Amino acid sequence: MKLFSKYQLGNIELKNRIVMSPMTRSRAIDNIPNEIMTQYYKQRADAGLIITEGTSPSPNGLGYPRIPGIFNDLQIAGWKTVTEAVHKKGGKIFLQIMHTGRTSHPLNQGSDAEVVAPSAITLSGEMYTDKEGMQAYPVPKAMTAEDIEQAQQEYVQAAINAIAAGFDGVELHGANGYLIDQFINPASNQRIDNYGGSIENRARFVIEVAEKVVSAIGAERTSIRLSPYGVFNDMTIFEDIEETFEYLASELGKLSLVYLHIVDHSSMGAPEVPNSIKLKMKEAFGGTFIASGGLDKDKAERILEKGQGDLVAFGRPFISNPDLVTRFKEDIDLADPDPNTFYTPGEKGYTSYPFAQKNQIA
Ligand SMILES: Cc1cc2nc3c(=O)[nH]c(=O)nc-3n(C[C@H](O)[C@H](O)[C@H](O)COP(=O)(O)O)c2cc1C
Repeated sequence: MKLFSKYQLGNIELKNRIVMSPMTRSRAIDNIPNEIMTQYYKQRADAGLIITEGTSPSPNGLGYPRIPGIFNDLQIAGWKTVTEAVHKKGGKIFLQIMHTGRTSHPLNQGSDAEVVAPSAITLSGEMYTDKEGMQAYPVPKAMTAEDIEQAQQEYVQAAINAIAAGFDGVELHGANGYLIDQFINPASNQRIDNYGGSIENRARFVIEVAEKVVSAIGAERTSIRLSPYGVFNDMTIFEDIEETFEYLASELGKLSLVYLHIVDHSSMGAPEVPNSIKLKMKEAFGGTFIASGGLDKDKAERILEKGQGDLVAFGRPFISNPDLVTRFKEDIDLADPDPNTFYTPGEKGYTSYPFAQKNQIA
């Protein structure tokens, strides 16, 4: 099967085409990667490529409780133990850089941070905080030109720190309504300067971030995840959506990013992502393309065989099946994940899922 064949991704060789999707698991007490996180990623190192959970480039980007950062020495040291453990098992690992933007609350951030966004448009509903439970989203501060420059530099420094921590590369989280997507989508971006309005202007923030990160760590170590037709975090399906995402794919392709990773959350209740837009983006990007969302072994293999993706990513199956690759190879039934422990602290529902065969226990 193509699923189990090797793949040359930039300068690194992946042992198979199976990618572990980025998943926030909220186990990083004080935002620092720790021993159980090392164990969790090590257990899953049979994947061709692991993409870590969304990790903040700065105090401002720490929107959720217990998500890790990559902006101080303790965080870099914590991540180093993770990358070493994964590499020791022959795995490869990219860090997902996630700045949450307006999807945030001051109670989840430190005292040195502020909730920022392209425009002062508040997200509807409430979010969880460890300190005081559910809270209404705050009105974010509309970023000034200096704030934009600063946030971009935060991504650059985060990428540099990621390489220092031993990562094989970084994935810019441009999906699911976080800061980058907030610039792309007119529902959250009503700026009247050159970062808002036209397709080119709404794409400017992410393209500049990508350019700067490429200059700092190289295109072969820089990648991006995008979610056309995503509606999470109050994103909307807007008028020129297809043109916007095609433009983005084309411009990011010109920068020779090492891959473009597309999210399709229709299996989670989001609108269908037309196959046509995925294919247009793949074509416009021109490089390695990762398909994700609601895949099983057969669907994934079909995507690879039809040439609709070079790599295939699995999220929830990796939560409850640390040995997913072996289970696919040997047609062993998959265990179902327990959503109640997706974001709870501790080992339960995290490192506690058993391997199918005793001799595979990490
Ligand atoms: C618990 C959980 C946390 C997630 N966190 C992230 C994240 O930090 N970054 C991201 O890009 N996607 C995140 N996602 C989305 C997944 O990467 C993936 O796209 C989604 O689960 C659909 O794929 P699947 O059907 O294989 O699970 C998360 C999903 C889950 C279930």
